[in-house]
Amino acid sequence: MTTTDRQGQAILEAQGIGKYFQVGGGFKPKRLRALNEVSFALGQRQVVALVGESGSGKSTIARLLVRLMEPSTGKILFRGRDILQEEPRQASLDYRAQVQMIFQDPFGSLNPVRTIGEHLERPLLIHGKAKSDAELRDRVNELLETVDLRPAAELAARYPHQLSGGQRQRVAIARALAPGPSVILADEPISMLDVSIRVGVLNLMERLKEERGISYLYITHDIASARYFADRTMVMYAGHIVEGAPSEELMQQPAHPYTQLLLSAVPDPNGSMKNELKAKSGAPKLIDPPPGCPFADRCPSAMAVCRQEMPGTTQLEQNRWVRCHLYGQGATLGTVGTQGQSATDPGIANVAARRLEEAR
Ligand SMILES: Nc1ncnc2c1ncn2[C@@H]1O[C@H](COP(=O)(O)OP(=O)(O)OP(=O)(O)O)[C@@H](O)[C@H]1O
Ligand SMILES: [Mg+2]
Repeated sequence: MTTTDRQGQAILEAQGIGKYFQVGGGFKPKRLRALNEVSFALGQRQVVALVGESGSGKSTIARLLVRLMEPSTGKILFRGRDILQEEPRQASLDYRAQVQMIFQDPFGSLNPVRTIGEHLERPLLIHGKAKSDAELRDRVNELLETVDLRPAAELAARYPHQLSGGQRQRVAIARALAPGPSVILADEPISMLDVSIRVGVLNLMERLKEERGISYLYITHDIASARYFADRTMVMYAGHIVEGAPSEELMQQPAHPYTQLLLSAVPDPNGSMKNELKAKSGAPKLIDPPPGCPFADRCPSAMAVCRQEMPGTTQLEQNRWVRCHLYGQGATLGTVGTQGQSATDPGIANVAARRLEEAR
């Protein structure tokens, strides 16, 4: 069981949520552990980033929170309400209005034969936000102006292919805003956009946070953008959240050896770190995962215990925590790995091991 990553009053909270998928057909389908009992909370007007390599379970978390699928374990609390227990349609509609999602590919999430206006009318109608055609038109125009798409009436009449990638993502944001949400789950919202317009979209999301009190779970491969946009950053590895900290502190002084590796693998501010990380590693086993820490095989500081049991949570400072045996056994921030150097450097591993020996 992990400590919940939370600061202050929670608006949306995951308690021990896990997800297993059946994969492979035939007589012996296998169980893939995509997510293993993760806990965290989003506060009001808070941005929490979720970073980690491909397949670590980031989108699975977002899909569970937005109820595109049900978790295998755990609870989801919205303003303290256990929403998985709420079946009546109205309660569920209310939750869907409050917790919205934005996807990576704005083109894929827009219907090519519908105008931009029609895309925005639908959620407004479903969630009862307009009572007449005139009001509906006004609401659509307001939404477009909120996301800086002007002249609104002209944009509303266009089709998705008549917009640029950045404009399409702004439409997706406007659509998410239509029901009046308090939480937006943004799954790599800028990674398919041209580099030059990414900051504009993040700034828009930031402004909506201030103006409308929206909280975000911001999923990204781009750790530099997490530093720019997110108050806190959580790091995922193979279905576990292994570290949570204020973004700036995490970048300055990563605690977990995996976080150190992630930061050492940010070669190019424009690119994702997917390929870089793949090159450095074998993927962790999600089907029949071995006991212990899933990062042990790649970890330069791995000890015997790391292959035997998953570490619990160690509180490093009031608002920082990590799941790593090094810290459970006495290491402190700054004694594991070395900032600025590659965490795969065997020299660092040796130093960390020696310090640990000394600490015992
Ligand atoms: N519907 C599904 N059926 C079977 N396996 C799935 C399903 N959805 C996700 N998975 C598996 O669960 C694991 C986590 O997937 P997820 O999409 O959450 O990763 P991610 O961190 O979002 O990766 P990426 O950065 O590539 O988007 C992966 O191994 C994936 O193959
Ligand atoms: Mg994903």
